Amino acid sequence: MSDDRARSTDDNRARSTDDETAENESVEIDVDTLEGSLYRVLSSVVIPRPIAWVSTTGSDGVDNLAPYSFSTVASVSPPILLFAPVDDQKDSPQNVEETGEFVFNLVTEDVVEPMNETAATLPAEESEFDHVGLERAASTTVEPPRVADAKAAFECTHHETIEVGGSVLVLGEVQYVHLDQDLLGDDEKVDVANVDAVGRLAGSMYATTQDRFGLERPP
Ligand SMILES: Cc1cc2nc3c(=O)[nH]c(=O)nc-3n(C[C@H](O)[C@H](O)[C@H](O)COP(=O)(O)O)c2cc1C
Repeated sequence: MSDDRARSTDDNRARSTDDETAENESVEIDVDTLEGSLYRVLSSVVIPRPIAWVSTTGSDGVDNLAPYSFSTVASVSPPILLFAPVDDQKDSPQNVEETGEFVFNLVTEDVVEPMNETAATLPAEESEFDHVGLERAASTTVEPPRVADAKAAFECTHHETIEVGGSVLVLGEVQYVHLDQDLLGDDEKVDVANVDAVGRLAGSMYATTQDRFGLERPP
């Protein structure tokens, strides 16, 4: 089911516990008896989610670009990233299956609008790069281009695709990393204060990483 269809069919029947006072009343959802999809709850509560802006090149040579917020780091050694299309009919997983490569581009606040435009459903023969007017930058180790304006890009080779329910997890091993100088601090290492990443909340809502606080980990 597509991201949007899942949202529009969302009809979560939640029930309130009636044996508690209104003050601490909670909403309980028994998924076994749920009518409709849990999409609204999952995507509104498991937030903020990083956005993988995934570029691929189809076997027909068309460059594809699409955002996926069901995405994360899967492993550090080897370095593996993943994104999760909620069905395997989308162009990105199909291209990765066919060509074995993708680029995970970072979404920062300055590119959030074009990122959103690349979620449009286009015919497979039309590139989102051209549709939105985004500049390509050549990748170093893989065929799909990077988004020239992305402040970071991880070039990946296909590691594995795992079916999980109606979704697929597309895992890619990072082969090469591009980091914009803007992301670096005085010590020439990435400074999180300079990474103006955007996270997806629910629907059309987003958050930035500009409101931060520190918390020491216990030993
Ligand atoms: C910010 C954002 C995040 C999205 N995250 C996902 C996601 O995690 N999984 C998914 O299947 N679709 C997601 N979508 C919808 C896809 O981007 C959309 O279906 C797109 O057309 C897929 O493109 P493709 O067929 O070229 O891969 C998201 C859309 C937006 C705007």
